Amino acid sequence: MPVGATTDLDDAAIRAAATLIQRSRHVAALVGAGLSAESGVPTFRGDGGLWTRFGEPTFDGWELFNSDPGAWWDDALAAQHRDSEFARALDSARPNAGHVAMAEMEQMGRLAHTITQNIDDLQHRAGCRKLTEIHGNRYLVRCMNCGGRDRLSTISLDRLPPLCPECGGTLKTDTVMFGEPIPEDALRECYRQAALADLFLVVGTSAVVYPAAEFPVMAKRRGAALIEINPEETDLTPLADIVVRAAAGAALAAIVDELRAETMA
Ligand code: OAD
Repeated sequence: MPVGATTDLDDAAIRAAATLIQRSRHVAALVGAGLSAESGVPTFRGDGGLWTRFGEPTFDGWELFNSDPGAWWDDALAAQHRDSEFARALDSARPNAGHVAMAEMEQMGRLAHTITQNIDDLQHRAGCRKLTEIHGNRYLVRCMNCGGRDRLSTISLDRLPPLCPECGGTLKTDTVMFGEPIPEDALRECYRQAALADLFLVVGTSAVVYPAAEFPVMAKRRGAALIEINPEETDLTPLADIVVRAAAGAALAAIVDELRAETMA
């Protein structure tokens, strides 16, 4: 099945998912590239995935940044002007029905927190506020000294590397590179969610990248329930209490409709 294709919805699975969400005390979500697929942002793995087609990127970015942050910024700014399918897709993407449904679930008080592996800012733009961007956000910079974050667009790039206006530390794009440790504040929040959740909603991720993939598993070990929304089977499927084999946009919108109906009943 092509990635992003809408599948026929299994009404029983949608109803069961909504009921479980309604009955849970603390719902946390882990989302991945599949949530943004319907916004035209390519996934990494699987049919049509960026890495399936072009191979995995080099793993030396973090080392290069540390050895010469100024040169790294020079290269990164030059790369922005090169033709990149991923950058073009990200720049033209708009939140889709799945992002909007997650924001609605949050506003209804049914979704306590989302851990997103996506760097595209689309959940934030859809209105999600209780969000940990575990792999960063491509529109932000982060200080390597104090950990403070700022909009990339507000930072002067006249001198490279740019320096933190608060502490003078070196700034880096917020996107987490291969080999780079996950920022401590983000990691702390993820472990907190894994400890608090009595239900994990896992949407559009192949769940093969750690530590992200570990949080639903940790919650499950503590007795939490797990719902998976993904057109394809993943390593987490055997752990799931409910599996919705559908594209995220249609599935999440249908779950929100069901939650509204259950609230009014
Ligand atoms: P992947 O590309 O590994 O997986 C995308 C998942 O989305 C697959 O399981 C697809 O079946 C599913 N999918 C595709 N279309 C969908 C749709 N319309 N609705 C729901 N699901 C759909 O992406 P991630 O799991 O996000 O990290 O990858 C995790 C990390 O791998 C990324 O954050 C990235 C990469 O290393 C960094 O760059 C640091």
